[in-house]
Amino acid sequence: MSTFDPDPGGPDVGGRAAEGIVTIERFLTDNQPETATGELSRVLDDIAMAGKVIASRTRRGGLTELLGKAGVVNVQGEEQKLMDVYADDVMTSMLSGHGRVSVIVSEERPEPVIIDDSAPYVVVHDPLDGSSNIDSNVSIGTIFGVFRREDTTKPPTEADWLRPGRDLVAAGYILYGTSTMMVYSTGQGVHAFTLDHAVGEFLLTWSNCHFPAEPAYYSLNLASIPQWEAGMSRFVDWLNRPDTPNLSQRYIGSAVADFHRNLLHGGVFGYPGEVDRPQGKLRLMYEGAPLAYLAEQAGGRGSDGSRDLLDISPNDIHQRTPVFVGDTRLVDQLEACLTEGA
Ligand code: AHG
Ligand code: MN
Ligand code: MN
Repeated sequence: MSTFDPDPGGPDVGGRAAEGIVTIERFLTDNQPETATGELSRVLDDIAMAGKVIASRTRRGGLTELLGKAGVVNVQGEEQKLMDVYADDVMTSMLSGHGRVSVIVSEERPEPVIIDDSAPYVVVHDPLDGSSNIDSNVSIGTIFGVFRREDTTKPPTEADWLRPGRDLVAAGYILYGTSTMMVYSTGQGVHAFTLDHAVGEFLLTWSNCHFPAEPAYYSLNLASIPQWEAGMSRFVDWLNRPDTPNLSQRYIGSAVADFHRNLLHGGVFGYPGEVDRPQGKLRLMYEGAPLAYLAEQAGGRGSDGSRDLLDISPNDIHQRTPVFVGDTRLVDQLEACLTEGA
């Protein structure tokens, strides 16, 4: 974790000495491959801009007309929140019209949105994850993944967007918490930026994020144990043994917030399959795979309980999957418990 010592003599932006001010735009440009066209960096800039706009509303909470339900049940069969719709509209708007993004896959839209037949990128996203927490002022997030199209001479087809996480060229999230952060990877490590409202920029606050050697947390909704398969009880029993890591249980009900805390302090987040929904609740393309991509880049991994999440080829853009993501040894142990006696 890099820190900035305030330099009383220099220009002081948000408590940082001038040389410590690295915006996400500059970091993206300075760290893109020599051969890069810069288009992917600009797509991530567009997502950062969407995050700033969404944050400007989430941080106003009940002062905006955006709390509450939209009165619509979305393709997930879940009640859409007004802020879900707003965040989806902002992401769509920021990603359109620049000739960079061809297709957008959103949790909030039944079908992919075709934006531009010849543009090089596909963006998959959950515009607002954890939206059941909005009115209780609990941290929520935007999750995104980016694919590069192989052939832009023809209009996009399903082969452009229905892809395993291994094909991702970038993934990340924006966390609307006590501060607003954007965390992303383009395959060269995970980097975190904090929105400095004084200047309206995401500034680098943690480069090369990595799960710590020793985990501190596990994030499971233990109230659901009766709905889980037996292997999950074996994992919980394993956690409670005196010779295994002494973890605290933290479950926020917002995957981005749970993932981020575990990235900093070490741990594993899980949303298992259940008796009446064996594939669980979370969606592979715009929740499981992007978080697994980040986890691998930060020294961890993601699994559905038996396979790497990044290896799963989706059959449907809204395909659900059990998700276990975080510290490698804990995910490995979960797999062992879930496959033991399988
Ligand atoms: P979303 O709000 O995008 O529908 O998904 C929220 C997800 C995830 O963030 C969280 O871990 C999980 O739903 C919580 O689900 P439960 O309330 O069933 O625990
Ligand atoms: Mn979600
Ligand atoms: Mn959502």
